[in-house]
Amino acid sequence: MSTTKKIPPTIFVIFGGTGDLNARKLAPALYHLFLGGWLPEQFALIGTGRTELSDEEFRGRMLDGINEFSRTGKAAKSEWNKFSEHMVYQVADVKNAATYKEFGKRIAAYEQEWQVQANVIFYLAVAPEFFPIIASNLAKSNLADDTDRTRIVVEKPFGHDLDSSRELNRLLAEIFDECQIYRIDHYLGKETVQNIMAFRFANALLEPLWNRNYIEHVQISVTEQLGVGDRSGYYDGAGAMRDMIQNHLLQLLCLVAMEPPVNFNADEVRNRKVDVLRAMRRFSAEDVRESAVRGQYGPGWMEGQQVPGYREEAGANPQSNTETFAAVKFFVDNWRWQGVPFYVRTGKRMHRSASIIAIQFKDAPHYIFPPETAESWQQNRLIISIQPEMSIRLQVQAKRPGLDMMLNTVDMVFDYKGTYTNQAPEAYETLLLDTMLGDQTLFMRGDQVEAAWDLIMPILKSWEGRTSQSFPNYSADSWGPELAEALIARDGFHWFTLPLNGNK
Ligand code: BG6
Repeated sequence: MSTTKKIPPTIFVIFGGTGDLNARKLAPALYHLFLGGWLPEQFALIGTGRTELSDEEFRGRMLDGINEFSRTGKAAKSEWNKFSEHMVYQVADVKNAATYKEFGKRIAAYEQEWQVQANVIFYLAVAPEFFPIIASNLAKSNLADDTDRTRIVVEKPFGHDLDSSRELNRLLAEIFDECQIYRIDHYLGKETVQNIMAFRFANALLEPLWNRNYIEHVQISVTEQLGVGDRSGYYDGAGAMRDMIQNHLLQLLCLVAMEPPVNFNADEVRNRKVDVLRAMRRFSAEDVRESAVRGQYGPGWMEGQQVPGYREEAGANPQSNTETFAAVKFFVDNWRWQGVPFYVRTGKRMHRSASIIAIQFKDAPHYIFPPETAESWQQNRLIISIQPEMSIRLQVQAKRPGLDMMLNTVDMVFDYKGTYTNQAPEAYETLLLDTMLGDQTLFMRGDQVEAAWDLIMPILKSWEGRTSQSFPNYSADSWGPELAEALIARDGFHWFTLPLNGNK
């Protein structure tokens, strides 16, 4: 996040260098950091994996990833050639001490060549079952000793429940200092998500309104058109609560609900966020039935294509009880938010892909206009659209032009497309840069992860203990199960969606 600091000489080791995450996210992000002049001359990328590859073959895979997934299209030959000189490949057996000895030798060789002590980042782009073995082998081979210069980056899922996340935190804490651990939640790197803090805390006009006196309710909705596809192996043991709500959606909620931090220091910001998680009302089994809804998609048609139901996806359990949709009504029990419901929902195979935060303000206290104007009356609403549209819109009432006094809702819009000409960086560019700069503001601290697990455990336990008789309960291309509509309709509200043309 800092623009003034410079990345020191760095060796970036990617475990899972031949994997999907590297091709889709890490390779394009590192390439853009290179193009933007962020990477130092003394930069080395060591890709590792089980497959035997030459350096050239590994570079070819990185290039394929960039060409297919980069936000700026195919790599330019001259730039790619320069960037690829920084990469090497090392075949690795993560269980074998010899692998780590080899890393040690390579790191020493770079340092010798550069005549400087480099920062070393170990990026774990591998399945979570490998986290413990890699971490303890790094420790045994003394590769993680320097708390200032070595870091470890851990991808989600961070644990499977509260106990396993505590266990993983405990294990990492035996080896690393918290300042060395970078737990990724890629939503925090999204440009529009970072802007929530800028919008809230760089503008004086919002703070007086940002509380239970003026806000009626908050909605956070992350819907996806994509289905689970070939990820059933992972997803069937996870579901929407673990995959999305425990991390991404609760982090968005924290950004909306947190108190103003004293400064932009990583721990100060994270302290304020963890305060929110701790203040969130815990669920009894009875509350789960009233305040949480789960769903699983059945087959259907999406944009003219027939798509399978979740249970028919490749590798899925035909009797699966896993939820692909979840909606929850949360409360934050503190002075600012007492009594304000936070409705959160996420689902796959939904009618549209859209991530939106809607803040609905309370009604004006007294209505002075003639009764016939009340028809189109709507409370003020602030809509932060995270993706695909990147905008913040404030919906207000205005007089429609004409000789009569008629009101309608108009949008005051800040829209990235119309305001800025430069393309927003991908979340991973921001997060990898911050990792190399040593800025943990946008990363999850151990206590945050545990607090989020602690909050959702009663829901997970309740759902796992009761097989849903109604699954599948929503069809592909819908807005999820009817019960999710009922969850919010009971309180007199409805789920907000942005019209496709971006206006009212
Ligand atoms: C990931 C989840 O963390 O986030 C996926 O595991 C989900 O299931 C993805 O599709 C959504 O991310 P984005 O950036 O596409 O909104």
